[in-house]
Amino acid sequence: MAADDILKKIIAHAKEYGFIFPSSELYDGLGAVYDYGQLGSELKNNIKQYWWNAMVRLHENIVGIDAAIFMHPTTWKASGHVDAFNDPLIDNKDSKKRYRADVLIEEHREKMNQKIEKELEKGRKKFGDSFDEAQARATNPNIQREQAKIDELTARFVKALEASNLEELRQIIIDNGIVCPVSGTANWSDVRQFNLMFETKLGATAEGASTIYLRPETAQGIFVNYLNVQKTGRMKIPFGIAQIGKAFRNEIVARQFIFRMREFEQMEMQFFVRPGSEMEWFYKWKEARLQWHKALGFGDSNYRYHDHEKLAHYANAACDIEFNFPMGFKELEGIHSRTDFDLSQHQQFSGKKITYFDPELNESYVPYVVETSVGLDRTFLAVLSKSYHEEQLDNETRVVLRIPAALAPIKVAVLPLVKKDGLPEVAREIMKELSFQFNCQYDEKDSIGKRYRRQDAIGTPFCITIDHETLTDQCVTIRDRDTMQQERVAISTLAGIIDSKVSMNNLLKQLL
Ligand code: GAP
Repeated sequence: MAADDILKKIIAHAKEYGFIFPSSELYDGLGAVYDYGQLGSELKNNIKQYWWNAMVRLHENIVGIDAAIFMHPTTWKASGHVDAFNDPLIDNKDSKKRYRADVLIEEHREKMNQKIEKELEKGRKKFGDSFDEAQARATNPNIQREQAKIDELTARFVKALEASNLEELRQIIIDNGIVCPVSGTANWSDVRQFNLMFETKLGATAEGASTIYLRPETAQGIFVNYLNVQKTGRMKIPFGIAQIGKAFRNEIVARQFIFRMREFEQMEMQFFVRPGSEMEWFYKWKEARLQWHKALGFGDSNYRYHDHEKLAHYANAACDIEFNFPMGFKELEGIHSRTDFDLSQHQQFSGKKITYFDPELNESYVPYVVETSVGLDRTFLAVLSKSYHEEQLDNETRVVLRIPAALAPIKVAVLPLVKKDGLPEVAREIMKELSFQFNCQYDEKDSIGKRYRRQDAIGTPFCITIDHETLTDQCVTIRDRDTMQQERVAISTLAGIIDSKVSMNNLLKQLL
């Protein structure tokens, strides 16, 4: 199935089953803003819980906060966002569509990479296990030609970005024959810078109101609270502060469903370290974060690192964890070594000392920071897109969401075989008991087969069926979503069976 078709199916499925709706759909929606429905918010909460527990509960030296979205406007002057949180935009004069110039170039480069991948795939097919990828890269003339083009493009692109040379960005687009996907032409405008922050006014009167911003990242709420947390929590370096919250960006290219939104959520952790030890921590966090993603079980080959060629002015190392989304490998998480830039800037702009006295070194310094920053919505999209399966059964197609059981919105469906003979009452009793531990759903409508399909489609790991025999033998049938196997078990054993599969600990234990 083509990537576009898969994404379309996922969007339709997410809407049909109450995971995600376009925002204010009643008024035809709002560009790149989405609402999470009754099942979507459950899945989202479970992802948050997985992240929060992995960070805060499993690390003695990481604590969590919840800072406000509104911050003093000087925060954004100090952080550099007022002056430099820009994207280079370009318009196609024929289609009137607007693009990010850097994204157009990156996508073009990815297409070139895919040509190499295709060539390698041919080799793998032809030679099987004896295929030597390194040798193919070093000797195959088609690959070498393509790689040389990629290297040349990359060098030119990085130079242009580093020098903020907007004319050169435009020239790269033209020289590489990059055309607008809508009009198919290269009738491009100049490239201009566009600040991504949303502004609003704080204050009751027009004269007294001041301009403030909706935060474009949650990280600054952590930096401005560094001293508060370090002192009140008696934190010793190295230590981390974690936070989950909304961020807002007036994205130029807001496409691809919840991948790039104007209102989204981040899960960020700033880890404060001794200057000079930041690279050691950068590598540790790079590895730890990849492990967190891989524990979800979607297959290791769906993740890869992408080291940044162009570093932000405050960073001395940066890497993305990319995920194989339906539209290809794209950034899921960023790990950044931000030096002492943010704390030093806040120290300078606030005039207040932000240092740490290190008793082991007997000296004070501004701590360095290694940041891990993952998009909650992108993680949601990663989970949803890799969980979605269409399976051909004997005479029907089963749509099943193989969501990792610990993240599934509903853990158990409780289904009386018929709506009479006292079965609903027993089912309700079972549901009442299980509800203390698990999110359950009761369903007595339609045939049992239809009810199973409904639960498969929303990713419920277990269905429990109560039948006439239950009244005498105190046993029920438990059905597994993935294997569709059914087993007769005693009611008294249900909680244990379910817990052994859906417990969040199953995920967390893989991280130790
Ligand atoms: N504090 C660092 C920071 O904000 P970033 O790379 O700009 O770094 C971090 O963002 C993560 O936030 C990204 O890897 C992505 O998962 C998520 N993210 C960024 N912009 C987003 C958007 N417009 N929509 C959804 N998620 C976004």
